[in-house]
Amino acid sequence: MTISETAHEAAEAAGKILADYFHNGVTMRTKSASVDLVSDADVNAERCIADKIRAAFPDHHILGEEENSADVDAEHLWIIDPLDGTTNFAHGIPHFAVSIGYYHKGVAQYGVIHNPIRNDWFRAERGGGAFHNDQLISVSQADSLNEVLVGVGFYYDRGEIMSATLAAVERLFRQQIHGIRRFGTASLDLALVACGQLGAFFEYQLSPWDFAAGRLLLEEAGGKITTCDGTPLPLSKTTVLATNSTLHESMLEHVRRGT
Ligand code: IPD
Ligand code: CA
Ligand code: CA
Repeated sequence: MTISETAHEAAEAAGKILADYFHNGVTMRTKSASVDLVSDADVNAERCIADKIRAAFPDHHILGEEENSADVDAEHLWIIDPLDGTTNFAHGIPHFAVSIGYYHKGVAQYGVIHNPIRNDWFRAERGGGAFHNDQLISVSQADSLNEVLVGVGFYYDRGEIMSATLAAVERLFRQQIHGIRRFGTASLDLALVACGQLGAFFEYQLSPWDFAAGRLLLEEAGGKITTCDGTPLPLSKTTVLATNSTLHESMLEHVRRGT
């Protein structure tokens, strides 16, 4: 099996597990932060993905949100979020996804994001373009903030990160943007920028599994993704700014930490 076949088969199988739990119900638990939820759906979907990757590529490393850790410098690295959008999932909102990225020597090579309820598929291969359900996608052509919707994410913190996010949201509203959206699934937020529906998206704390696949999708669709300070995105917890590229500098003015 190839990388893309493995990624698709794993995303499809994990998606079925999530859909089953979503329709039949599952008990949610909290993680360290009292508002950060997890369930058997997250854990079992990650096990399913990891099993499929190990069966196809026994020597590859896997970094997953729930159970798998790996050195991000590993030559062959899979980065998986088995259920991105857990809070939506827990509240019966069918906006969540499986996200799987494959990296070679630290560089994203393949990414797939799958919403099993809508049967939506986003995929990208380095140098091969970005696709939504087999349609080639590209970012918005807007060259001014007052022509776009901006997506935002709120990390689970209820302190300094939340306050800084709210302050940035206020600055952006004052730019006469068309509106702010908080959809609650970072991988799909990046997909919305890649499709041109959002002009930009930012969040002050994301983990590699939240953006591992979405960053490649966005770049292949013509977008730009950096930290909120404009520096290259590390494969660790980080701030994230994703735009259609043209709006990157204008967005940086409003989302740079400490502005
Ligand atoms: C979360 C979602 C959310 C973002 C959070 C993430 P999870 O992932 O992507 O949109 O705002 O920061 O942690 O916990 O549902 O996998
Ligand atoms: Ca996530
Ligand atoms: Ca998750």
